[in-house]
Amino acid sequence: MEIINLSNQNSIINQYMAEIRDKEYQKNRLLFRNNIMRIGEYEAFELSKTLDYEPKDVVTPLGVSCVNVPTDKIVLATIFRAGLPFHQGFLNIFDHAGNAFVSAYREYKDAEHHQVGIHVEYLATPSIEGKNLIITDPMLATGGSMELGYKTFLTKGTPKRIHVCCVIASPEGIDHIRKTLPEDKTTIWCAAIDPGMNEHKYIVPGFGDAGDLCYGDKL
Ligand code: PRP
Ligand code: URA
Repeated sequence: MEIINLSNQNSIINQYMAEIRDKEYQKNRLLFRNNIMRIGEYEAFELSKTLDYEPKDVVTPLGVSCVNVPTDKIVLATIFRAGLPFHQGFLNIFDHAGNAFVSAYREYKDAEHHQVGIHVEYLATPSIEGKNLIITDPMLATGGSMELGYKTFLTKGTPKRIHVCCVIASPEGIDHIRKTLPEDKTTIWCAAIDPGMNEHKYIVPGFGDAGDLCYGDKL
C-alpha cells in the first residue's frame, strides 16, 4: 500500500496546515473551511498525476491540438459532516467526477470517553464499479470511519482503485487501513502524519474536532 505524505516536500500546503492547526486562526471558521478546501484542491492535483491518460485531438478555432487527457472514471466519496469542504476541494479539480456521500459519526461507548463506536445512517452514491474511488475525510484517526465508509460504498460495486485522502493521519489509522482495505489497489494521501492520538482518540497535536471547526458545536 502506497502512502503519500505531501508534507515530505515543502509547498504552499505548509502555510494552510500552519493556519488550520493554529488555535487563533481556528476562530475564523470561514478561513478554516477554505484552507481545508485548498488542501483538497492541492491533494487532488497531485493525485491527478497518477491517473491513466490518452491523447485526444481538440479542435481550436485555429487548428487541432493533441492533448493528453485522463481516461479514468472517478467517484468522489465523502463522509458527513467534516468531509464536505475537503470534498469540495477535490470536486473543484475533478469537476466531471461522480459524487457519493455517507454519514458516519463517532460516538463514545463508555462514560470515560475512551472507546469510540461508529454509526452509518445515510448513503447516496452512483455505481463505483470499475471506478477510481477517492474517499475524502480530513481526519484518519482510528480509521474506523474510513473503513465503515469504504465498506458501505462497496455495496455499490467494486472499484478499480481506491484513494484514501485525508489532511492528517495517525500511524494507528494508517495501520487500520492497511489491515482492512485491499493492499494492492489502495493509496493513502495525506498532508501530515502526526505522532498519535490522545485517550479520547483525537489526533495529537492535530487540530481538534474537524466537524466542529468547520460547522460549530453539535449536541
Ligand atoms: C471525524 C472525521 C472522521 C472521523 C475520523 O468525524 O471527519 O470522519 O472523525 O475518526 P476515526 O478515524 O477515529 O473514525 P466526526 O466523527 O468528528 O464527525 P463530524 O464530521 O460529524 O463532526
Ligand atoms: N476526529 C476529529 O475531528 N479530530 C480528530 O483528531 C480525530 C477524529
